[in-house]
Amino acid sequence: MAKSLQTSEPELLKPGVKAPVQETLLTPRFYTTDFEAVAQLDISAYEPELRAIVDELRADYNRHHFVRDSEFEQSWEQIDGETRGAFIDFLERSCTSEFSGFLLFKELSRRLKNRNPILAEAFHCMARDEARHAGFLNKAMSDFNLSLDLSYLTKNRTYTFFPPEWIIYTVYLSEKIGYWRYIIMFRHLESYPENRFYPLFRYFESWCQDENRHGDFFKALLRSQPQLWNNWKARLWVRFFLLSVFATHTLTVLERVSFYRSVGINPYEYNIQVIENTNETAARAFPVILDTEHPEFFRRLEECSDINLKLAEINSSKSPKIVKFFQKLPLILSIVGHLLRLYLIKPIDAELSREAVF
Ligand SMILES: [Fe+2]
Ligand SMILES: [Fe+2]
Repeated sequence: MAKSLQTSEPELLKPGVKAPVQETLLTPRFYTTDFEAVAQLDISAYEPELRAIVDELRADYNRHHFVRDSEFEQSWEQIDGETRGAFIDFLERSCTSEFSGFLLFKELSRRLKNRNPILAEAFHCMARDEARHAGFLNKAMSDFNLSLDLSYLTKNRTYTFFPPEWIIYTVYLSEKIGYWRYIIMFRHLESYPENRFYPLFRYFESWCQDENRHGDFFKALLRSQPQLWNNWKARLWVRFFLLSVFATHTLTVLERVSFYRSVGINPYEYNIQVIENTNETAARAFPVILDTEHPEFFRRLEECSDINLKLAEINSSKSPKIVKFFQKLPLILSIVGHLLRLYLIKPIDAELSREAVF
């Protein structure tokens, strides 16, 4: 089971630095794992594929991409009100999750250096990419007179322990869903440039290729471990992680409709598009994927989001804790009920279509 580790005593934030949002189930997490078990993974069955991906990562196609051009050099005071708040929230969430990837990959690369050189180099290159992504987002925050103190975050966030198998499932999914999130937004703003209120969005096309390569590395790593896809237990875990990632995505997007509307995106359609594409992509790695075309699939996810908004309302009310608890309990049970029903929808076998998909 997951356990949480606190690495050190909380420190005070430097003045002028944005306090991180309160950690909830939906905020991006920081992870740690069993590094010894990762070092011992036998990757020989997929070594040529993994070496080819490491060559790609080493080529570092985006090394000149994350340079701020002259369009950034202006005042951004015209982005105000709800749009400004929603955009800053988007930047902070994205920066935290990119930075979380950096910390995990950096630690993996450090611990595997003398044990598993192929994996160590892959993690080294992916840490390099994530550091760039996080840094670029943090620079964007500074245009709004804010920044995240990343060393404060490193020391004070809770680290969640995931065994290597869970790390492989979840990081694979988060890289691929990251790819789809960035590319769908990029393509939309390419068609409607009048909605592109800040130059960051122009960088998403090459940026998401980094996430795509990271996802491909995790796909090869996953396929190199037959126990992660060739048995009934793996099928149950895969369904669990797909559903967790899709439910988190739905709740996160629909909690921030004002941000998506500010760039002219319908958040409901965007959520569906991201999930459908990620699910389809996951068929290349996972033994099963979810039946997103089932009539109950998005209906139940969206109902979870409605309930989540009611929970947020209760949380921000001034009622005593005990009252809040009894107000929230039936709502939480209702979300659990929806998720259970979604989990039980018959999945789609991806192994059968594997040859066709590749
Ligand atoms: Fe990234
Ligand atoms: Fe990534």
